Amino acid sequence: MNIDDPTGSFSPDAVNLSLLQQRAFNLRWAEVDTDVIPLTAADPDFPVATEILEAINAHVADGILGYGPTRGMLGFREAVSKRMEERQVPSSPDQILATDGAASALWAACRAVLGPGDEAITFDPVDFLLPHCSEQAGATVVRCPLERGSGAIAQDVLEQKISDRTRAILICNPQNPTGRVLRVEELQRIARLAVDNDLVIISDEIWADIVLGDIQMTSIASLSDEVAQRTITVSGFSKTYGLAGLRIGFIHSGSGELADRVLEASGAPRTIFGASVLSQVAAEAALSRCDGWRDGFIEHLKRMSRFAAPRLDALDGFCCPQPEGTYLLFPDIVETGMDANDLAAEILEQARVAVVPGDERWFGPGAKGHLRISFATSEAILDEAITRIERWNRNR
Ligand SMILES: Cc1ncc(COP(=O)(O)O)c(C=O)c1O
Repeated sequence: MNIDDPTGSFSPDAVNLSLLQQRAFNLRWAEVDTDVIPLTAADPDFPVATEILEAINAHVADGILGYGPTRGMLGFREAVSKRMEERQVPSSPDQILATDGAASALWAACRAVLGPGDEAITFDPVDFLLPHCSEQAGATVVRCPLERGSGAIAQDVLEQKISDRTRAILICNPQNPTGRVLRVEELQRIARLAVDNDLVIISDEIWADIVLGDIQMTSIASLSDEVAQRTITVSGFSKTYGLAGLRIGFIHSGSGELADRVLEASGAPRTIFGASVLSQVAAEAALSRCDGWRDGFIEHLKRMSRFAAPRLDALDGFCCPQPEGTYLLFPDIVETGMDANDLAAEILEQARVAVVPGDERWFGPGAKGHLRISFATSEAILDEAITRIERWNRNR
């Protein structure tokens, strides 16, 4: 028995490949050839915690599945609010809005505070959703490059991106795809700029639980009341609890005014969008009853990161640091002399492993020369995938 995983939730046997081949989409098992291992979209291969299934089953068994409250069910909003308070963010259930995923939360947050003629600053590289949702709201995206290698925000570069048109700064913490956990000093710098220039901060914290190293994750809204009041925090349940298919997330607005604007922009008051009640029941169970499962998952991910990163780092032309957070490896492959798209295609064809190329369309120009590799799977599958990549690398 593995002492970190007494229930076997993250053992090789827990992964049901034939079911994943029917149900795991978005570049994963159901969308690749059967001999390919997809380390692509960040979606765990493990079944969800049994407490979540019990909660869904109990709610269905009652037989009432009508409309829920506009802002979300009270139990869901209370559980989210408690979690925000645990992260030192002042919170009450009135500040929470249930959304159908973190992506939808970002979309509503951007529509609430951005419009044509506005500029939104975000970092480069970063997950495509942050710039995409800003553009969907009509704003122009201004990208602040992160330091290659460390993913840090270099001195002065952010300050230079502020103009009279800047309305918001969007951050992702921990950062997809670099795996960096933002330092308190970086958050303070962002917060100071936001206060001095009257900007809204939109903080995507969907990866907040997945912290693998010694750097603690700090929610930017926890820095002070003044910062909280101008911050919209978005998050979801896809990464920690494997609930991507339930499309469930939330928005925490730091002020009543932001909460009203976000609600209006979300489409929920007119029932156009909104979170399914069953998904809220599942998410509430995740927050209130699954800490043990979550901690076991994080322990597993720490082991997988230590297992996989050095082996990728040892490949010719690869430089692969351990991520501080997320379950994403982001090796720099510039020294291979190949373009990331061509390299990913070669690994797919010859090693039969699918990875995400550091392509502008996914992560911005700063991702050039990288691959992104998700390791939220069993040790056996990860070992097989890396062994195949090592063999391909030796035979090149
Ligand atoms: C930073 C970030 N935000 C949002 C999302 C989307 O989350 P959801 O599935 O809840 O819409 C992802 C998923 O990869 C992500 O990495």
